[in-house]
Amino acid sequence: RDPGWTESADVIVVGSGIAGLTAALRLRGQVERIAVVTKDVLAAGSTQWAQGGIAAALGPEDTPEQHEVDTLVAGAGGCDLDAVRVLVSEGPDAVRELIDWGANFDKDPAGNLSLTREGGHHRDRIAHANGDATGAEIQRALIEAVKRAPEILVFEHAMVVDLVTAADGGVAGLTIHVMGEGDADGVGLVRARAVVLASGGLGQVFSQTTNPAVSTADGMAIALRAGARLRDLEFVQFHPTVMYLGPDSRGQQPLISEAVRGEGAFLVDGEGNRFMQGVHPLADLAPRDIVSKAIMKRMLETGQPNMWLDARHLGLEPHSDDRVGGEARAAVSRFWERRFPNILASCRAHGVDPVTELIPVAPACHYASGGVHTDLWGRSSVPGLYATGEVACSGVHGANRLASNSLLEGLVFSRRIAEVLPGELRLLQEPAGHGTHEGSAGLVPGSALKQVQEIMSARVGVLRNAAGVADAVSLLGEIAATPADTIDRAAWEATNVLSISLALADSALRREETRGSHWREDHPERDDAHWAGHFDTVMSDGAA
Ligand code: SIN
Repeated sequence: RDPGWTESADVIVVGSGIAGLTAALRLRGQVERIAVVTKDVLAAGSTQWAQGGIAAALGPEDTPEQHEVDTLVAGAGGCDLDAVRVLVSEGPDAVRELIDWGANFDKDPAGNLSLTREGGHHRDRIAHANGDATGAEIQRALIEAVKRAPEILVFEHAMVVDLVTAADGGVAGLTIHVMGEGDADGVGLVRARAVVLASGGLGQVFSQTTNPAVSTADGMAIALRAGARLRDLEFVQFHPTVMYLGPDSRGQQPLISEAVRGEGAFLVDGEGNRFMQGVHPLADLAPRDIVSKAIMKRMLETGQPNMWLDARHLGLEPHSDDRVGGEARAAVSRFWERRFPNILASCRAHGVDPVTELIPVAPACHYASGGVHTDLWGRSSVPGLYATGEVACSGVHGANRLASNSLLEGLVFSRRIAEVLPGELRLLQEPAGHGTHEGSAGLVPGSALKQVQEIMSARVGVLRNAAGVADAVSLLGEIAATPADTIDRAAWEATNVLSISLALADSALRREETRGSHWREDHPERDDAHWAGHFDTVMSDGAA
């Protein structure tokens, strides 16, 4: 089917979180026609939801070398050292530029950046904004900066259906569906000399996630269909402290930032035992994979569907005698209101007052450490296609991302893309095809999304074993054979989630060890002798 309309641009940036908008802002003045396309509104992605903050060696006691060590340890042997060095050494300047663009981070009484700590960090190095609304502040500042740059064209409600490649296998553009412009007839072709994927992660692969509804693995799926190499898909991070709302709760769940533990909260089981003590020297502030696994282990041992976070003492002197009196409660309440106003409101909206009650928590899908494999300059394996932020696998996260390194990765690698891309722009290429999703070919119905999520959550979550994952692959294969009867956003999203779920399950099955966020019950140890490498996924594997 021919596209209904055709446009052209020099560079198309897909996605409008910290990675996409940084790339666009940094490319302006170097490239003429820059378009940012996003399938919802500019602020709808994951950046907006980030609570804890952005990590960088900005404190007087800190160094990039210490940040590097913490990142490598959290990454459980899976990080690319060169990529980590880029991240930690360019991070501080990148955050300073963000401040120049208008992002306001919290300051201490002396006017210095107020830095906190999260799991896996041995220094206070997390900059935060408005207490616990760091992502919202960064998103606001970047949107305002883009609005001040009229040369950046923004298209909201524009879903990328597929990348379009040229005869040489490189990028020639992409097909786009503008919402409200009819069904398949609303699909047009935008020819481009380069495409920067900054479309975020895959949280909607699972039934419970901290990610918003738009996180449907679109960028990874279209890159895979275009022939790009994906890497480390099995390393999906499950955040340990996501508010548990009951067994039937689905979709985006409320996050209780690790910064709450950074300020002194701790985990307890149903008997009040602090089960993280003795598990790791950093106890409740161990790297995230270790805390999630310890919570799951305790849940299995006790038969409880969740554990609890005790934050009823935050803001009190460590050895205060009065922890329950009226004055103590007022002090804790003041601390919560100042430091975590949004988490406080969210807990109360769900019927839990963290000032006086324990918060029920359980792990939920949070972050894709893998994605479109890139080099140190954001180049994918497809000429003209770059990737940055959560959609990418630059090698900085390894098998488990260090807390608050995600916003930083988007910032640092988007700046790098903007350094090399202008000098590498291809001539506008003739499209050799309009992608694999011509018409309804290969599409599954939108209703398949829920089925895929149930299968993945039950069999490919924090706990995995060969039989369960193989079962998932076979069930997903059955869903893949169900044709869509309507071509719409729901069908495209469900198809993208399905194809990345298949690839993820395939990698999870192949890795016969436990490493980072990947926990194989049937292979419970990390096995560096056999499995220190990476699993790549390409279309010819049949994984998609
Ligand atoms: C959090 O605030 O706990 C999340 C931070 C992150 O994912 O890096």
